Amino acid sequence: MNTKLVKIKDSEHIADEALIEAARIIRDGGLVAFPTETVYGLGANALDEEAAKKIYAAKGRPSDNPLIAHISCMEELEPLVSHIPEAGRKLAEAYWPGPLTMVFPKSSVVPYGTTGGLDTVAVRMPGDPAARRLIALAGVPIAAPSANTSGRPSPTTAQHVWQDMNGKIEMILDGGPVGIGVESTIVDVCGEIPTLLRPGAITMEMLREIAGTVEIDPAIQGPPKDGLRPKAPGMKYRHYAPHAELLLVEGELEAVIGRINFLAKEKLGQKYRVGVICTDETQNRYRYGEIRSVGQRSRAETIAHNLFAVLREFDDLEVDYIYSESFSRDHLGQAIMNRLTKAAGYHVIRV
Ligand code: TXA
Ligand code: MG
Repeated sequence: MNTKLVKIKDSEHIADEALIEAARIIRDGGLVAFPTETVYGLGANALDEEAAKKIYAAKGRPSDNPLIAHISCMEELEPLVSHIPEAGRKLAEAYWPGPLTMVFPKSSVVPYGTTGGLDTVAVRMPGDPAARRLIALAGVPIAAPSANTSGRPSPTTAQHVWQDMNGKIEMILDGGPVGIGVESTIVDVCGEIPTLLRPGAITMEMLREIAGTVEIDPAIQGPPKDGLRPKAPGMKYRHYAPHAELLLVEGELEAVIGRINFLAKEKLGQKYRVGVICTDETQNRYRYGEIRSVGQRSRAETIAHNLFAVLREFDDLEVDYIYSESFSRDHLGQAIMNRLTKAAGYHVIRV
């Protein structure tokens, strides 16, 4: 298949012709990758089971892992769900459009092929205006996982999508680098108390401000334990299975820098290729291996923005070991550390 790569934004202008063509592809049962404010999505008609199958095939993703249905306005929510719990309504009012996905009891309109056999459906109204325009033009909700090959970091540029999806999908809409860089927050609002299933840019504090008590699915905090299954099926998979072994070093910053330099020097001496993930504040303290700053410690949003691109770069460089600094778990830091510890397969050393 020939994959068409089309730019949709120059400065402020959104090119409608490309979106109209993309919307037609989706209505006809095809696949289009498109930018959202979190990461690039791989879109298909959420109401078409056959189209959903194509998503799983293109990503190499297990079909028990449900897809998020993306909508462009509040009216599009009602047909997809059997009812809208109070917490869901309040959170939608506060944070939609935006980087928040909510799990609702599904209606019969949504096929099990989209929800991985579940009786619930995850719905998100993205903040990116081009994404919403595409959904509105398609006239159907768009099922979209992140547009990466299963097991690779989520794509934050159209070039990342091209690396993984060229030849497998009809079209890639290039809207430039995304804003946030980590996937949306997921909250299950089906029960009495809303439960956080995946941390993201809508933080725990922001959820609690609107919904009061919010629980955290214990499975997102640590390694998968027997009998403890994450409520978001996708969270049980290792998101990033790098060629390299990734190790997170946590502790007082001076000790972290010392340990990473020690480990990097040791592996270089054994003729391995080594990558170091650090920050603008610490970059000039490292001596060994490929050294990449992921952003500023004092601005977590810069770290979220660059994290997946840096992980992909180390994949391309085929390093054998990656040593990474750790970050605060507050606010957006919860999402950053969730993705990093999962990428590391929970290999964290404390110094
Ligand atoms: O930011 C995002 O959410 C991006 C952009 C494209 O919108 N999408 C994304 O999709 O990250 P994906 O498929 O990579 O991750 C969706 C997660 C998976 O962990 C999946 O298991 C969970 O959402 N999920 C989907 N439907 C669910 C449901 N009904 N119940 C529980 N978890 C669900
Ligand atoms: Mg994903």
